[in-house]
Amino acid sequence: MACKSHYVDECYAELKQFIEKLPTQKGALIAVLHKAQGIFGFLPEEVQDFVAKELHINPAEVYGVVSFYSFFTMTPKGDTPISICLGTACYVKGAEDIVAEIKEHINLDVGQVSEDGKFSLDAVRCVGACSLAPVVLIKDKVYGRLKKGEIKSILDGYMKGESHENN
Ligand code: FES
Repeated sequence: MACKSHYVDECYAELKQFIEKLPTQKGALIAVLHKAQGIFGFLPEEVQDFVAKELHINPAEVYGVVSFYSFFTMTPKGDTPISICLGTACYVKGAEDIVAEIKEHINLDVGQVSEDGKFSLDAVRCVGACSLAPVVLIKDKVYGRLKKGEIKSILDGYMKGESHENN
């Protein structure tokens, strides 16, 4: 559950407490970032700076780790995160049309979270499933070879609280 803006101080306090309880801070950066992402839902610059300060390390080191590992994110995520692959194979097979369909259907652009916090949309580079292009990841599911209009019914399923696979 991501930190809500009116609880930000409590969120920082929780993270600080986690860091203070670590047996050693040396080599704990990934564990701390994991905890921070669990608390805040994502890792914006302020949170990265806080982690750097508390661990007495350079913010550039924190940024390096956050940007290296794909499970860390610097942008907020909705309850149902959608990632669209914009790698070459997916792009050629019409990934941009899928982005347009998502935008039209749930009014969400790349880098945004819906107002109700239910969906977020981000773009990723090749996810290694080029034979399934164009590919969309929703939560932990991969939807491949998407044809025009299919993403709408998939999203409708998530809106109703169900999901379905097409591969
Ligand atoms: S380009 Fe999309 S999976 Fe490879």
